[in-house]
Amino acid sequence: MSAQKKQHDALYPVSKSPALKPHITAKQYETLYKQSIKDPTTFWSKQARIIDWIKPFTIVKNTSFKEEDFHIRWFSDGMLNVCANCVDRHLPQRKDKTAYIFEGNEPGDVRHISYQDLYEHVCRFANVLKQHKVQKGGVVTLYMPMIPEAIYAMLACARIGAIHSVVFGGFSASALAGRLDDCESKVVITADGAQRGAKTIPLKDTVDLALTQTEKKTVETVITVKHTGATCPMKEGRDYWLHEEVRHVNTECPYEEMNAEDPLFILYTSGSTGKPKGVLHTSGGYLVYAALTHKYVFDYHEEDIYWCTADVGWITGHSYVVYGPLANGATSLIFEGVPTYPDAARYWDVVDQHKVSIFYTAPTAIRSLMSKGDAFATKTKHPTLRVLGSVGEPLNPEAWQWYYNLIGQKKCPVVDTWWQTETGGILLTPLPGAMDLKPGSVSKPFFGIQPELLNEKGQAIKRTGMGSLVMKDSWPGQMRGVYNDPERFFKTYFSKFKGYYSSEDGARRDKDGYYWITGRMDDIINISGHRVGTAEVEAAINTHSQVAESAVVGIPHSIKGEGLFAFVILKSGEDVLYVFKDEVLQTIGKNIGSFAKPEYIVIVPGLPKTRSGKIMRRLLRKIAAGQVAEIGDVSTLADPRIVDKISEIVVRTFKENT
Ligand code: WT7
Repeated sequence: MSAQKKQHDALYPVSKSPALKPHITAKQYETLYKQSIKDPTTFWSKQARIIDWIKPFTIVKNTSFKEEDFHIRWFSDGMLNVCANCVDRHLPQRKDKTAYIFEGNEPGDVRHISYQDLYEHVCRFANVLKQHKVQKGGVVTLYMPMIPEAIYAMLACARIGAIHSVVFGGFSASALAGRLDDCESKVVITADGAQRGAKTIPLKDTVDLALTQTEKKTVETVITVKHTGATCPMKEGRDYWLHEEVRHVNTECPYEEMNAEDPLFILYTSGSTGKPKGVLHTSGGYLVYAALTHKYVFDYHEEDIYWCTADVGWITGHSYVVYGPLANGATSLIFEGVPTYPDAARYWDVVDQHKVSIFYTAPTAIRSLMSKGDAFATKTKHPTLRVLGSVGEPLNPEAWQWYYNLIGQKKCPVVDTWWQTETGGILLTPLPGAMDLKPGSVSKPFFGIQPELLNEKGQAIKRTGMGSLVMKDSWPGQMRGVYNDPERFFKTYFSKFKGYYSSEDGARRDKDGYYWITGRMDDIINISGHRVGTAEVEAAINTHSQVAESAVVGIPHSIKGEGLFAFVILKSGEDVLYVFKDEVLQTIGKNIGSFAKPEYIVIVPGLPKTRSGKIMRRLLRKIAAGQVAEIGDVSTLADPRIVDKISEIVVRTFKENT
């Protein structure tokens, strides 16, 4: 048996660590899980008390995935305010408790923000928004660094019933402009800059550029947080500094009473078409699900110091930096910088310094730090850590072991959590103290989650097997729609397999009922946990005047998980020009963001197409991965010889690069 295979089969029994104070045992999980499926109404009506309701709901679950009666509503006559749940309700017992520890880019730049501080900042920010005519139902776009003001802004929106749309600070001006146009945002909140290691990123300048590129010109106001001290040109009547605006507003701001199904936020994510979709989440069900998963998955307790390293620009930042932990009254750490600045010990130094007990990060960060050598990780034994989490992409067994052995010192369960922007919260995960762990597996469904694996005919696979991962029924944190495009919601997620939510991931189920994610089944590539649609990258490349056609596929990458490989056909049919490749890279940076730049760009004379003109991506993936021998029959291609021609070019490119 190979070493790899052995690792796959490894089983780590339920941790008996005294540091764990599990909310449930293995037996209780089984009982509660069964109840959650058999009688969701009783289960969720009880669990929904994890948050406060202004007016309690009487209806719990009202959902159907059937085309003729498609609807998803949870707690639909309940009233609440998400911000009040995250802030106000903690003031009687926790006003002096730290809500956030902010660790800046430079070591030693630390700020503690109590729940009382949070309340004051959020109220003032909300009043600033109101002064700028933001109303219930209006959309506010955030383009921010990982600083406390980003969280104040999100909560301020939630307080007054506005919908936030956070755009990750790594996106380009053009990507930001597209998102502003799509949701017709009138207000943008940004900062003078972001600090990431040795780099400073001029966010406000990018917003200025984006506003020259929007088609609809809906943005009337830009509010800028002074953070790096960079000078920014301010446009009279449009641009305002936050620190000046907050001077004129009241420190109290009453919260809006919101219906459980009122929108809370939009978050754009890549799909299989070129245009990103605005994933819409609503208030009640989302918050219940974020809070409950945060509590159980991380074995969260009152005295924990919890650190999720995600940026608020992604769903992980929404659910597990902001809404879940705050609903539970937690102390969270937020960090503006990068894991390798000033050196590769930064994460672990921060863990020790702030006595972090729960740590949640992405496999790409683990692999990147692992590649820098063990010495950075083993300066101490990180005695405060209790639970380690991972999210965003498969956590390969080697990285799992390193995380478990060196960071967790064999005493912290590793929770490999599977979910998506669309699911709002974690769906498949181990529960610390209640489940045995298997490196590489995302274990079992959370309460209320009914995964199924479907074969090619759409039939459910019983017991063990591999297939399309779908969900048989709704859960409270599920997305409610694609913003401004109701038909796209049903079509994208519910039309392929009738009666199911289709995740577009493949998975395997083993004899113990554990799930193993095998990867995306559509054209989405997961680069360092960033979801990139190959169609988007192709669209960006095709904007170059010399490009006739392009095809982009994913290739395995030792640190990023996956990287991109681009095949490009030039209009003139000319040969490789390095200048041209640089131009293509710049074009992608400009249209999407640097993280979407391919590892390889090759100029090819043609693409493998079927006689009906469909690009055979499966073949391109094999060629790009250097697995030409496994290609097999190509007789269905319009021009079978193209495979050899492209393979030759690719082999040459690999040689040149090594
Ligand atoms: C896609 C969703 C969920 C927050 C971050 C990503 C992949 C996610 C895992 C995991 C293997 C994973 C899936 C999924 N993915 N978690 N634990 N193991 N793959 O959210 O950007 O919406 O991406 O990320 O392919 O579909 P997202």
